[in-house]
Amino acid sequence: MDINGTTRVCGLIGNPVAHSISPVIHNRLAGLRGDNLVYATFKVEAGNVAEAVKGAYALDILGLNVTVPHKQAVIDELVDIDELAAAIGAVNTLVRTEGGFKGYNTDILGLDRELSDVGISLEDKCVVIIGAGGAARAIAFLCAGKKASEIYIMNRTLEKAQNIADAVNEYAKKDIAKAAGISECGSFDKKDYIVIQTTSVGLHPHDDETAVTADEFYENAAAGVDIIYNPYETMFMKLMKKHGKPAYNGLKMLLYQGVAAYELWNDCKISSDMADIIYEDMKKELGISE
Ligand code: ATR
Repeated sequence: MDINGTTRVCGLIGNPVAHSISPVIHNRLAGLRGDNLVYATFKVEAGNVAEAVKGAYALDILGLNVTVPHKQAVIDELVDIDELAAAIGAVNTLVRTEGGFKGYNTDILGLDRELSDVGISLEDKCVVIIGAGGAARAIAFLCAGKKASEIYIMNRTLEKAQNIADAVNEYAKKDIAKAAGISECGSFDKKDYIVIQTTSVGLHPHDDETAVTADEFYENAAAGVDIIYNPYETMFMKLMKKHGKPAYNGLKMLLYQGVAAYELWNDCKISSDMADIIYEDMKKELGISE
């Protein structure tokens, strides 16, 4: 593409940013659509977020993604915030508006779109979230927003799961979320639940590990999503499939968080054919062949 006097700039702030796949997603989307837009990464140290956001606005930057460790700190620098992102307390996308940036959480829009892509609806379903970190918190809010009937947050450290359950129940204005210890999964007495695996257990190079080992837990599940995408098939997914249950990785979540950000910045809709092309590019970039 030609970079010229009217090229718009988007980018990623975080630390580290060097290995991000976001430039592949956005620059390829711009190329496919013929948009005069370029996406770059900006390493921003902790403590410099306010200057970075103000500077980006002053420089007429169209939009930013935000990654670790700034997803919470950036909230103080916004002029507006999407309701779900505010409830979650984490923002990964800034959209240029009159007077400053508005914050969104497209990580969660990404998972939402992956779920509908693979035909999983959360409505009236029991959902089990494994883990209680930042990703689990965001996903628990999505489940509440999508009207899951019950949300179990299972974590090694019970207190962290309880904190998320409390926050979700306050948001939903009813007691739909419950905390449980991960060691209880073998005796979990529900059936046909959707499992969303959010812990770092099983991430490459620990491909053979999983936070949940009990066969009974897999046997009684309906379907599972692991937000890990490296390895492409995690041990969690293998165990789900061993028990005859469909299982999906997190690569589409990653794809669609980018697609959703691109749509917000450019006020457009990315077709599923275009998203498929980007998905194949991402696999190539990550060295995934299957
Ligand atoms: P993120 O913000 O990306 O979701 P995080 O905040 O680092 O990640 O959270 C990691 C999650 O993986 C936590 O739920 C953590 O459990 P604890 O809260 O008990 O620390 C979970 N986790 C990490 N290693 C684990 C292990 N070996 N067994 C079980 N859970 C583990």
